[in-house]
Amino acid sequence: MTIAIGSDHNGVALKEALLQSALQGHTVRDFGVFTTESVDYPDIAFAVAHAVASGECERGILICGTGIGMAIAANKVRGIRAANCSDVYSAKMSRRDNDANILCLGGRVVGPGLAAEIVTVWLNEPFAGGRHARRLAKIHAQEESAQL
Ligand code: RB5
Repeated sequence: MTIAIGSDHNGVALKEALLQSALQGHTVRDFGVFTTESVDYPDIAFAVAHAVASGECERGILICGTGIGMAIAANKVRGIRAANCSDVYSAKMSRRDNDANILCLGGRVVGPGLAAEIVTVWLNEPFAGGRHARRLAKIHAQEESAQL
């Protein structure tokens, strides 16, 4: 699985920790950032979201201070279902029910151990389909009509 990852300055430490733990063995495209110099999280969110929406990468992981800004920005890109998760159960259900294709994490919210568990579960949980696919189709239809 090819994974796009990106963070702002508040997520760079957690990004590096995940690259050394849960993401070992995966093919990862790292969209930065690589220092703690202040940046604007939408710039990174859109780069990762477009890599996923275009099919270049199968999944994305975005990290800022809370994960909230990254999720808001990524969800503006057509075809993106970004879920901000701070616990393992939500991460699992974001895949099973919502087919989330981007996981957002808060570098100031979750520690590296919990984040690694969240990422591992999120990468491995399949989408359940069925009635959930019907619900996602309604969201997709709204997305299409909103962008006319
Ligand atoms: C800093 O820009 C901070 O707002 C960011 O890291 C993130 O927490 C946004 O949601």
